[in-house]
Amino acid sequence: MTTHRTSGPQAHGTKSALTQQLETTLPLYQEILRGLPVGIVVLHLENPRDVKSFRITDVNPAGALLTGATLEDLRGRTLAEFPKLLKTRLPLRCLDAFQSREPRNLGEISYGDERIREGIYAVQVFPLLDNFIGVAFENVTERRQAEQSLHQSEERFRLLVQSVQEYAIINLDPAGNVVSWNKGAERLKGYRAEEIIGKHFSAFYPPEDVADGKPQQILEEAAQRGHSEDEGLRVRKDGSRFWANVVVTALRNDKGSLQGFAKITRDMTERHGKEESLAKAKDLLELRVEQRTTVLARVNHELRTEIAERVRAEEQLRASLDQLRALAGRLQSVREEERKSIAREIHDELGQACTAIKMDLALISRKATKRQTRLLTKVDSATQLVDGMIVTLRRIASELRPRTLDDLGLAAALEGQAQEFETRTGIRCRVALPEESLVLDSERSTAIFRIFQESLTNVARHARATRVEARLEREVNQIIFRVRDNGAGFDLEAAKSRRSLGLVGMHERAFLLNGELNVESVPGTGTTLTLRIPLPPSTLPKQDLR
Ligand SMILES: Nc1ncnc2c1ncn2[C@@H]1O[C@H](COP(=O)(O)OP(=O)(O)OP(=O)(O)O)[C@@H](O)[C@H]1O
Ligand SMILES: [Mg+2]
Repeated sequence: MTTHRTSGPQAHGTKSALTQQLETTLPLYQEILRGLPVGIVVLHLENPRDVKSFRITDVNPAGALLTGATLEDLRGRTLAEFPKLLKTRLPLRCLDAFQSREPRNLGEISYGDERIREGIYAVQVFPLLDNFIGVAFENVTERRQAEQSLHQSEERFRLLVQSVQEYAIINLDPAGNVVSWNKGAERLKGYRAEEIIGKHFSAFYPPEDVADGKPQQILEEAAQRGHSEDEGLRVRKDGSRFWANVVVTALRNDKGSLQGFAKITRDMTERHGKEESLAKAKDLLELRVEQRTTVLARVNHELRTEIAERVRAEEQLRASLDQLRALAGRLQSVREEERKSIAREIHDELGQACTAIKMDLALISRKATKRQTRLLTKVDSATQLVDGMIVTLRRIASELRPRTLDDLGLAAALEGQAQEFETRTGIRCRVALPEESLVLDSERSTAIFRIFQESLTNVARHARATRVEARLEREVNQIIFRVRDNGAGFDLEAAKSRRSLGLVGMHERAFLLNGELNVESVPGTGTTLTLRIPLPPSTLPKQDLR
């Protein structure tokens, strides 16, 4: 730093002491100036009548740093070289300070040129010795910009809060008095800002809540926990009520002392209404479900009872069916036995008697004289009658129970039956029998024989057939008997609906022997009956088939 020694008359006599003092303190001041964060410029007024003649004699490092210029850029230049600066209030103020010998505060100057960085500078000028002036300045640009943007953002925020319509956003002081009021608050609560600011926020609560001290409790909770949330009824200016959600937040400064509260209120009437009607609908639904469940439980109980009754009835029905079947089976065998014994009686007793009558009539005829013509005629006609009777008796006996079935076995009985059928009806009838000799018990033989009889009757009555073929086969554990005709055939379903008993009887016979009867018939192509009767090895039949 350049020093300028004064050489006024007051300096005489103490020169050496002053010089000595200066020599010790000067480096100190120089140090101070170098380290100061404030920009210091020393100006020397060369021509007291011309402000342009202020020459920069010195600048401290902060001065260069704050203006963005180098020391060389500034040092030695006169204000004449800063035309833009000449237009500011700086030169005149410097002159003023120089003349008045008083420091002058220029406040903040917005300045920048080709050497000095654009910015806001807070400037003070102060007179120094002789024609020297000091200029002290700070670059406050950043501070001002920060302040400005803070201000802008505060303003934006204020506007935002102000214009929010959906929420009432208000500030309360620590006691709960309204400090600020936004549009949403006005819309929601009906008060204009000037009507409510300064009033206590308990004005928004129903009297019963105020009596319970609720507003105060909310503030206390917010102050303690930082915030408090509540949902309930609130009151508008006109006294009407609405359902609101309210969040109160405590506002504290850096030191933590309570500054007031921010209170955000939202109208939940619609949602609350929806929730209420939803809750009502849910209750109704639950009630309906309960009612329906009761009805269902009752119906279920009734159904179970009905099902149990049905099961019981079915069991009873099955039992009666079994009994009926057993009875029918028993009746059949009794009938068969009776037929057998009646046939035998007819054949043996009545046949014998007829033969005896016939022999007696022959004797009478021999003993009579030739003149006894009337007697002889009577005996002849009686003999013919007896012959006819014998034929009839044989036929009846055979129809009741063919002797061959009991005497010669099933095969012979089937063949006999086929022959008789063919003779009687003219329909060709053949029976194919197994090669090897088979033994079959009376029950099974009778069943097969009777089924054959009934099927031949049906052929004669319904089939208009020209040929019948029967086949008896033995497999490992069953007997198969098949009767096939080439007749008209019939519709099985239609036949079932008729109240005829022939086919039913055949099925029943098969069933009683644990067997089954299968009927296949296609109209126009004939009918085939297939009977299968199981043969348990332990109960092997004793009767010879042949
Ligand atoms: N071989 C057959 N060819 C054509 N139709 C037949 C034959 N067998 C049975 N049908 C038909 O099936 C029906 C039922 O036969 P089913 O033997 O049960 O009764 P039905 O002979 O009419 O009377 P019934 O009770 O006296 O035997 C017959 O009415 C007939 O129409
Ligand atoms: Mg029949």
